[in-house]
Amino acid sequence: MIKGFGTVKNDLFLRACRGERVERLPVWYMRQAGRYQAEYREIRKNFTLEEICLDPTLCAKVTMLPVEQLNVDAAILFSDIMIPLGPMGVNYSLVKDKGPEIANPIRSLHDVEQLRKIHPEVDLPHVLETIRLLKQQLDVPLIGFSGAPFTLASYMIEGGPSRNYLLTKTLMYEAPATWELLMDKLGDMVVTYLRAQVMVGADAVQIFDSWVGSLAPADYRRYVRPVMEKIFAGIKDLDVPSIYFGVNTGELLADFSQIGAGVVGVDWRVPIQSARERTRGMVSLQGNLDPALLFAPWEVLQSRAKEIIDEAVKEPGLVFNLGHGVLPSVDPSVLQKLTAFIHEYSEKKISELSKAR
Ligand code: CP3
Repeated sequence: MIKGFGTVKNDLFLRACRGERVERLPVWYMRQAGRYQAEYREIRKNFTLEEICLDPTLCAKVTMLPVEQLNVDAAILFSDIMIPLGPMGVNYSLVKDKGPEIANPIRSLHDVEQLRKIHPEVDLPHVLETIRLLKQQLDVPLIGFSGAPFTLASYMIEGGPSRNYLLTKTLMYEAPATWELLMDKLGDMVVTYLRAQVMVGADAVQIFDSWVGSLAPADYRRYVRPVMEKIFAGIKDLDVPSIYFGVNTGELLADFSQIGAGVVGVDWRVPIQSARERTRGMVSLQGNLDPALLFAPWEVLQSRAKEIIDEAVKEPGLVFNLGHGVLPSVDPSVLQKLTAFIHEYSEKKISELSKAR
């Protein structure tokens, strides 16, 4: 045990990650800080996302907003997966309504060789300072995060968001040595970055591999799984829960349960029961409400949340979340109402079950 940051008041999220029994399900939402919040939009009038991240006081405030407003059981550091790529030498910008754009996309072995190692204390001191500030204010666990090599590489190679990942896959198939070096360098960055976040207080880490579901399982095993195993081995001694998340990853869940992650993200395409079978009880799960349901009539949303909870409470080890991030046009009061419902309904179900036992 390396960390010594004491305990958080509300540790439901950490206990569920570790597969322990809980009195009610913990819930948080990917992209819980962002444009659906009036306060965030107000801040964004005067600051870009990068400027928010560079100002620890402001960044901590934005991180706290959803914790205060929604009563979620975990905070996630406000940042973006692109932030640590700057010090590696990637010239990116975050374009509104579009996503990251890269001015110097990776196209050759030479481009990969140019990528530098990061030194978080020197290159990203504002991130570490934000975490230190948050640890003084939060009474729920703080999740640190990083993008995963495949998803980061997809932006770095395509130069921006992509539908088919054609340039990415072409480089992977055509120049395996270049691909391997890129995965290696990104894997090193992820380990260095996550270790630094945990050292200053992050209570758990999530690795976002949002677009890895575009790969066939055999290609995942050959081109991506080795670096993911190295990453989870590289943070194992930190003894904090680690979450691995991707979209459209139903066919990869068995692999995900064997790479060293403690918790695996599940999207709405796979029912919780099937996800448990595919991961054979090896990991805890996080998910999996379709983010589009936040726009459905309350009765429909409520019934789908109920279905997840009814299944979830049968076994320990589920963190309630969406299957992907909150969309910018969501009504915040829906998220508030949903959170209260998940808390209340799951507590009732868990207490019924424990009486019956
Ligand atoms: O509350 C949180 O979850 C923490 C903040 C967070 C952001 N990005 C802030 C952000 C997190 C965890 C991310 C991760 C991220 N960034 C991922 C993985 C998660 C996922 O959604 O799959 C990815 C793929 C990115 C890349 C990225 N950055 C995209 C696709 C966009 C959206 C572009 C847009 O304008 O719609 C961004 C920009 C971004 N990152 C915004 C926020 C709040 C919105 C832009 C802004 O406020 O300027």
